[in-house]
Amino acid sequence: MSRSKPVRESATARAIDLLRNPIGGRVTTGGYLDTLPPESPAPRTLARQVMHAGPLPLIYEAAWRPLLFTAFTGRTTGQEVKLMLDGLRPERGDTALDIACGPGNTTRRLAGAVGDDGLVVGLDFAPGMLMRAVSDTPQGNIAYLRADAEELPLLDGVVDMVSCFGALYMIDDPWAAISEMVRVLRPGGRLALLTTCGRGPSVARAAQRISQRASGIAMFEADAVLDHLKTLGVIRIEQHVRGFSQLVIGELPR
Ligand SMILES: C[S@@+](CC[C@H](N)C(=O)[O-])C[C@H]1O[C@@H](n2cnc3c(N)ncnc32)[C@H](O)[C@@H]1O
Repeated sequence: MSRSKPVRESATARAIDLLRNPIGGRVTTGGYLDTLPPESPAPRTLARQVMHAGPLPLIYEAAWRPLLFTAFTGRTTGQEVKLMLDGLRPERGDTALDIACGPGNTTRRLAGAVGDDGLVVGLDFAPGMLMRAVSDTPQGNIAYLRADAEELPLLDGVVDMVSCFGALYMIDDPWAAISEMVRVLRPGGRLALLTTCGRGPSVARAAQRISQRASGIAMFEADAVLDHLKTLGVIRIEQHVRGFSQLVIGELPR
């Protein structure tokens, strides 16, 4: 007798189970779940305006990111992804949240590691980035969510790992965003952040502060992210500084 396979619940349906209820979310024609009003939050800084601009999602993964990030971090994307996966230690069946996912480049790297029973949620607030992410994602274990990193619509303690690559420096209140990442992690959960790290003599630091104001890209002091994570109870913190970047890994106690 032939038995039909049970149909696996869609990734979006599984992502909805992680959300606070009611959240007012709806699945858009772009294929992602939307929890924000259309123009919210407004792209105030230059960095944010660029992320919301029409053409960037088209060239981001193939050209923009490899060129800029390699120049800025001194690492190839492959080296960066290896550090991330070594720190997050994803296992089959895990749930991962990729915050400020852009067109889904980092999100898709996590999806292979958690397997079909796992779930990866890519979260961003720019509709153009999310539409690109959906169209570039063949994997069935990824859902995309439009939300603000400063106020995650997820329940407490529902994900095994959080990544936030190349975005903390453009979030208005990065400290609120980090606190939110820790809130949604399960006990024993891991996080990995890639962001800026201000370095060099005082003249260089002054130039960094001026460019920060003009661009909306914040330059974090070397200890600032680590100190904030410690106050939130994050343990086993590792900081990998290279170029003007830092890749920070940490976990919550079990
Ligand atoms: C440079 S892209 C990074 C994409 C990807 N994570 C990567 O590693 O290449 C930065 C992303 O952060 C998103 N972003 C910035 N502030 C955000 C916020 N408060 N909430 C959600 N997404 C945000 C932007 O829309 C943009 O897609």
